[in-house]
Amino acid sequence: MINNNIQLDEQGRLKHFLSIEGLKRQQLVSILDAAETFANVQEQAVKKVPLLRGKTIVNLFFEASTRTRTTFELAAKRLSADVLNININTSATSKGESLLDMLHNLESMHCDMFIVRHNQSGAAHFIARHVSPHISVINAGDGCHSHPSQAMLDMFTIRRHKKEFANLKVVIVGDILHSRVARSQMHALTTLGVSEIRVVGPKTLIPAGINTFGVHVYHNMQEAIIDADVIIMLRLQKERMQGALLPSEDEYYHNYGLTEKKLSYARPDAIVMHPGPINRGVEIASSIADGPQSVILEQVTNGIAIRMAVMSQTLSPRTETTKTGSTV
Ligand code: CP
Repeated sequence: MINNNIQLDEQGRLKHFLSIEGLKRQQLVSILDAAETFANVQEQAVKKVPLLRGKTIVNLFFEASTRTRTTFELAAKRLSADVLNININTSATSKGESLLDMLHNLESMHCDMFIVRHNQSGAAHFIARHVSPHISVINAGDGCHSHPSQAMLDMFTIRRHKKEFANLKVVIVGDILHSRVARSQMHALTTLGVSEIRVVGPKTLIPAGINTFGVHVYHNMQEAIIDADVIIMLRLQKERMQGALLPSEDEYYHNYGLTEKKLSYARPDAIVMHPGPINRGVEIASSIADGPQSVILEQVTNGIAIRMAVMSQTLSPRTETTKTGSTV
């Protein structure tokens, strides 16, 4: 069991951002509202605000990433922070230095925040427990456990299109078993009051204990998708699969790939989401990924505003942001 309480300070404010689990509805709404302000900043000619001027933020990605790493870097730069991208392959950890020794060395350089992606569940929590009190840790994805900033940018995208969460039918499709994104999304959707969350996938890719999330489980995609407002497709995480959990990619696509025919069972104004990276012809048809109902690239754009919100709230929790993004 991973302890999520360490992400809050004595006043109940965000100090680290490790997991959606343990956060209250108002805390999630506050991140979404702050992200609206930062999204407006990005429409301006000068896309920067001085909120984190003088702060140093370190990207520590022990696992591959395109979207998360670059949008955290852009978000930090748009908050006027200095950013270090540590290349793990050429760092001294490749000479045998331990993770904690590396972190203590970075602390001694007066860094303020570590953004951590790691293939081990609980890695960001472990780091948060061992760093100096002035350092904030952001979880950028740990194993199959949690990807909270991804879930928040997904909530932001849903709110922009659907306005209210309460009456939505949201379907999450595919490899739920290995998906840290799905776990964080289920926590976020539940906390924000979505009335019907459905998950659908082959029995081999639905985790035991899924019922504790309060979701409806389906194995037939057509049934799951009927009248859906939001369809979230997941990547097949073959790198995390041990043994043969699937007969073949072709059969998976036939049963669980999002095609025009399957999409026709959803509401006509349904939006199609995917955290990326997408596998065309495995999880989703190209005509859908590039089609009018897809908001996949919007999700990427929204990641910058959400990450600005998360970084500013954890690193300067006493700082308020005005509508124009200036500090008061
Ligand atoms: N969605 C997501 O985490 O993408 P990356 O692996 O490219 O960061």
